[in-house]
Amino acid sequence: MLVSKKQPFPLLVTGASGMLGSDLVEEIVMSRGRQGVLSTDSKTLDITHRTQVENFLHKNPISYIINAAAYTDVDGAEKEREKAYLINVVGPKNLAEVAGSFGIPVIHFSTDYVFDGTLNRPLTEEDEPNPPKPNYYGETKLLGEREVLQNPANLVLRVQWLYGKRRERFSSLRNKEKFTPFEDQWGAPTWTRDVSRTVVKLIEQKAKGLFHFAYDDFASWAEVFAFVCDEWHLSTQLLPKKSSDINLPARRPSYGVMANRKLLAQLGEKTMGSWQTSLREFLKTIYCDFK
Ligand SMILES: NC(=O)c1ccc[n+]([C@@H]2O[C@H](COP(=O)([O-])OP(=O)(O)OC[C@H]3O[C@@H](n4cnc5c(N)ncnc54)[C@H](OP(=O)(O)O)[C@@H]3O)[C@@H](O)[C@H]2O)c1
Repeated sequence: MLVSKKQPFPLLVTGASGMLGSDLVEEIVMSRGRQGVLSTDSKTLDITHRTQVENFLHKNPISYIINAAAYTDVDGAEKEREKAYLINVVGPKNLAEVAGSFGIPVIHFSTDYVFDGTLNRPLTEEDEPNPPKPNYYGETKLLGEREVLQNPANLVLRVQWLYGKRRERFSSLRNKEKFTPFEDQWGAPTWTRDVSRTVVKLIEQKAKGLFHFAYDDFASWAEVFAFVCDEWHLSTQLLPKKSSDINLPARRPSYGVMANRKLLAQLGEKTMGSWQTSLREFLKTIYCDFK
C-alpha cells in the first residue's frame, strides 16, 4: 500500500522584505523548497495589529513563526518612541501570544544593544542586560525578547552588526577618499546568510531559549573597515574616531562582543568560524556585482 508522505506546514517569515528576512526566506527555500516558506511584509501582515495576526494564523497553517520584522533605526528610535515600542514590543508580544494559543513556536531576533558594553569580556546569555542610556531601541528590544521568552517553547537569537545583500555598509568606501570608523566599539560584523543558516539548523533541532549568535573572533569597526580596504585594495584613508568625538542621539555599547559557547553546544559544533572568512566571501560576491 502506498502511504502518502504529509508535507510539513511551512515556516512563516514576518518582515521578509528586510535585510535578515530576505536571506531567511532564501535559506529556507534552499533547505525546504518554495512550499516550505510563507513570507509576509508590513503590508501583508502588520505584526502590531493583533487581529491581523489572529486572522492570518486562522487562515494559514504554519509550523513556526520567524519574526524578522523590527524597528531598526537606532537613532530614530529616540524620537519615534511610540513607533519603536509598537513594532519592537507590541509586535513580538502579539506574535508570541497568538502563536502560543495555536501551539506554534516563535523565533525572534534581538541585539547586543541590550547590554551597556561596560564588561570587558564576551557577554553570555546569563549576563544581566542593561541597555546603554540613552538607547531606546535597545530598551524596546529587551522588552520584546522578554515578551517572546514568556513562552518556553520560543527562541530568541541575539545578533549584531548585520550586513547582507539588502543592506551593507562597505561599498560606499569605494567612493571615499577618507572615512572615520569607530575605534572603540567592539563586536563582529555578521552576515545575515550565516544567521539564516543557523536558524534553519536550530529549527531542525527544535531548539528553545535564549542564544547569542557570534563568530569565534571579534574586532573594532576601525579594524573591520581596514580589513575591507585590504580585501578590495582601496586607497581610502581611514581616520579612526572615538564614540565621544561625535554626538549621536543613541549611545552604543563599547564592548558588545558576545560569547558563542551556548550556541556551539546546542548545534553540536566546535566553531562558528571567523567573521573575516564570512566577510571576505561576502565582499567577493558584491565586488562581482560592481564589475
Ligand atoms: N541590522 C542590524 O545590524 C541588527 C543588529 C542587531 C540586531 N538586529 C535585529 O535583527 C532583526 C532583523 O533586522 P534587519 O536589519 O534585517 O531589519 P530591517 O532590514 O530593518 O527589516 C525590518 C523589516 O521589518 C518590517 N516591518 C516594520 N514594521 C513592521 C510591522 N509593523 N509589521 C510587519 N513588518 C514590519 C519592515 O518591512 P517594511 O519595509 O514592509 O516596513 C522591514 O522589512 C531585527 O530584530 C533587528 O532588531 C539587527
